[in-house]
Amino acid sequence: MKKKLKLGVFGFGCVGQGLYHVLSETHGVKAEIKKIAVKNRDKQRILPAELFTFDHQEILQDPEIDVVVELIDDARVAFDILRQALQNGKHVVTANKRMLAENLEDIFQLQQQYDRSVLYEGAVCGSIPIIRNLEEYYDNDLLNSIEGIFNGSTNFILTKVFEEQKSYEEALKGAQDLGFAESDPSLDVQGFDPKFKLTIALAHTFGLFIKPENIINLGIDKISSVDLKFARENGLTIKLIARAVRQGEQVFAFVAPQYVPAQHFLAPIRNEFNAVVVNGAFAENQIFVGKGAGSYPTGSAVLSDISALTFDYRYEYKKRQQGDRNSFSNNALIEVIVSYPESSPLLPQDFEDFKGGYRGFGYQYMRGTITLARLAEWGQRSGLSVILAPDARPVAQSGLPIKDLLYA
Ligand code: HSE
Repeated sequence: MKKKLKLGVFGFGCVGQGLYHVLSETHGVKAEIKKIAVKNRDKQRILPAELFTFDHQEILQDPEIDVVVELIDDARVAFDILRQALQNGKHVVTANKRMLAENLEDIFQLQQQYDRSVLYEGAVCGSIPIIRNLEEYYDNDLLNSIEGIFNGSTNFILTKVFEEQKSYEEALKGAQDLGFAESDPSLDVQGFDPKFKLTIALAHTFGLFIKPENIINLGIDKISSVDLKFARENGLTIKLIARAVRQGEQVFAFVAPQYVPAQHFLAPIRNEFNAVVVNGAFAENQIFVGKGAGSYPTGSAVLSDISALTFDYRYEYKKRQQGDRNSFSNNALIEVIVSYPESSPLLPQDFEDFKGGYRGFGYQYMRGTITLARLAEWGQRSGLSVILAPDARPVAQSGLPIKDLLYA
């Protein structure tokens, strides 16, 4: 039976305002905002002043509030709000990827301890309904991989740079102006934000709680004009891909830019759109596409979680309960193309399997297979731009090839 929920919202930025609008325009969801906690006392608000508070406890201690909707920026404060809300008997809906990724195992336990639900569809790929699908639709399928474009800002930047010849700085400013980028945009462009989303997806795909610091992330901030030229001349584009692939009981997961052939199904995913490719042993590839960032798309995912709470929905972390013995590993090899300015910092013997190189005017590149450990190291080195090769697939260091899912 549906009940009318009273909401206490934390944060009234891009997503908070999006939620307010989608909630006002959607009549099927039995929920109303009772209070909104904000930080800045001087900001002009579009709603009456009495709806706002600067005191978190006014929401957290209010017995009438059933659901805390946490939409602030600061991951530490957000976790504190989440914990207090659960302790006080409230359900939580959040879109805070970083807070979730860094604390997911604790959040799983807090939900059991306080018998309350934490829902976070809006945290992973904006409007794409992936978490509930992993939990419910794919509850019995044997999943091989989940991968795709998990960050709207970087996809927006790459689209503008490739298709409109905009500069990287101009494109990043566009992503910031449109409210897609994080308040610290290095989280987007260095691949942290998609890694946080991948960390959350790992729990619902493979039943793994992995700390984000154990997952390698490279971003788009080191992609050079040489790489763009290489891509154009070879009928390729570049996408920032988040990927988790299972081989046997080992799961490899990382975020890195990758050359993608123009005819590949991820190539036409443009601007702030995200795409998630789920590969199951029996269903095979299924692709979800939708806006991954922005006020209304993310607000609609948050609203969907609120609506789910009116039916007492909670995640069961089914892959974890099913007792799969998956374990996370970084012991894999991957094929990369590395470019760098004139003087060569690399030697062919730095590769596990060197495939060749090219020296042009003012730049050169090398292609070959490296370990994920080296991928992490080279990703940090200044002057190197490391991009996964178009046909790259992680291969367990034991030498067994992983079934290629993305480029099948
Ligand atoms: N900064 C994020 C992105 C926002 O660009 O995808 C949505 O999570």
